Amino acid sequence: MIGIDAISLYTPRYMLKLEELAKSRGIDPAKYTVGLGQFAMSIMPPAEDIVTMAASAALPLIKDRKPPSLLLFATESGVDHSKAAGIWVHKLLNLPSSCRVLEIKQACYSATGALQLAIPYVKANPTEEVLIIASDNARYGIGTAGEPTQGCGAAAFIVKANPHLIAIEEGSGLFTDHVMDFWRPNHLDTALVDGKYSARIYLTALEACWKEYAAKTGRSFEDHARFCYHLPFSKMAEKAHERLSKHANTHDLVAHSLLYTKEIGNSYSASLYFGLASLLENDKEDLSNKRIGLFSYGSGCVAEFFSGIVQPSYRKTLRQDAHQTLFSARKEISCPEYEAYFRECGNQNKEEFDPSECQTGAFRLAGIQKYIRDYQPLA
Ligand code: CAA
Repeated sequence: MIGIDAISLYTPRYMLKLEELAKSRGIDPAKYTVGLGQFAMSIMPPAEDIVTMAASAALPLIKDRKPPSLLLFATESGVDHSKAAGIWVHKLLNLPSSCRVLEIKQACYSATGALQLAIPYVKANPTEEVLIIASDNARYGIGTAGEPTQGCGAAAFIVKANPHLIAIEEGSGLFTDHVMDFWRPNHLDTALVDGKYSARIYLTALEACWKEYAAKTGRSFEDHARFCYHLPFSKMAEKAHERLSKHANTHDLVAHSLLYTKEIGNSYSASLYFGLASLLENDKEDLSNKRIGLFSYGSGCVAEFFSGIVQPSYRKTLRQDAHQTLFSARKEISCPEYEAYFRECGNQNKEEFDPSECQTGAFRLAGIQKYIRDYQPLA
């Protein structure tokens, strides 16, 4: 039995309410809060990026446990074409030099890809543990249709034998196709997206994955106690669930997985794992020994439907107090303040960068000189 032992989440210290964004853009706030199902989005300040978020998410997980022998860093917001972002995290967390580090990319699917690669690795090395960190900054641009579906965050999780949180089952349904629904050329720091097409492809991929998963495992919709979907915005998951449930009234099976994303926004590769943590930390029902269906979608595209069994010890490993404190302590900023941070973060790939004063988590991007990024723990 192999799966996820614990999940730790991190998101930056600033947020923008979507009502405030809607007012500034001259749009009815209900379009964002009802139409997209989103209330707020975390805002990246200039002294944070995918590395600082990843290190802050993983820090509580690596305390008091044996170091991982493999660190897989899943992201589509890479900060270097060559060097894996995980190497900086490896340094910041003081991991041993015997730990292998790799960056994995396939849009929002990358953390699930990492998980599926980690499982046979643990099977072959049953005493070893894998640290997976999904960390992303969803940027579409000021005034674009994608703007209200931005956000940022990191989810770190440990994959091991006899996990305390959720054991991943064998048998999944996959869907890969060459589609241009969402992409980011190397020189751009914002994504390009064919928004409505991307939502259609997401649902096409879901149906194809489900069909293969159901055929392989012989399971039906009713064999699953809860569902977690990739969460570009919460309404997308509700539409996906409606499609899978054939419009039966089963909103309760997905509702708790949406709570964190409604406040944080899209965190791309991390978002399915924000959803899983949100479900396990907020659903009052005891989910021990229950099956969760999970759908991961990465534009471009690769998608997978798979499942896991919640372990009887799962509540002991949850970090809901830390997560909820972190989310509720974020500072609300105005739309002009968000725009200023957005523009300044656009300079994070310049030759020289000296971030303005801002709050961070346990680590910060101290500056960039000659394209060399300098990260520091908070004193
Ligand atoms: N009150 C209530 N609802 C309203 C409203 C109002 N006043 N005005 C509009 N709405 C509703 C609309 O009816 C619509 O709902 P339905 O889809 O159920 O009809 C919803 O609000 C959104 O309205 P629009 O479709 O008009 O919105 P838009 O065209 O401006 O943009 C979007 C929506 C396409 C999702 C855009 O935000 C976008 O491009 N986002 C980025 C791409 C994305 O997230 N794609 C998801 C699938 S791809 C993926 O999952 C990978 C990933 O992470 C990116």
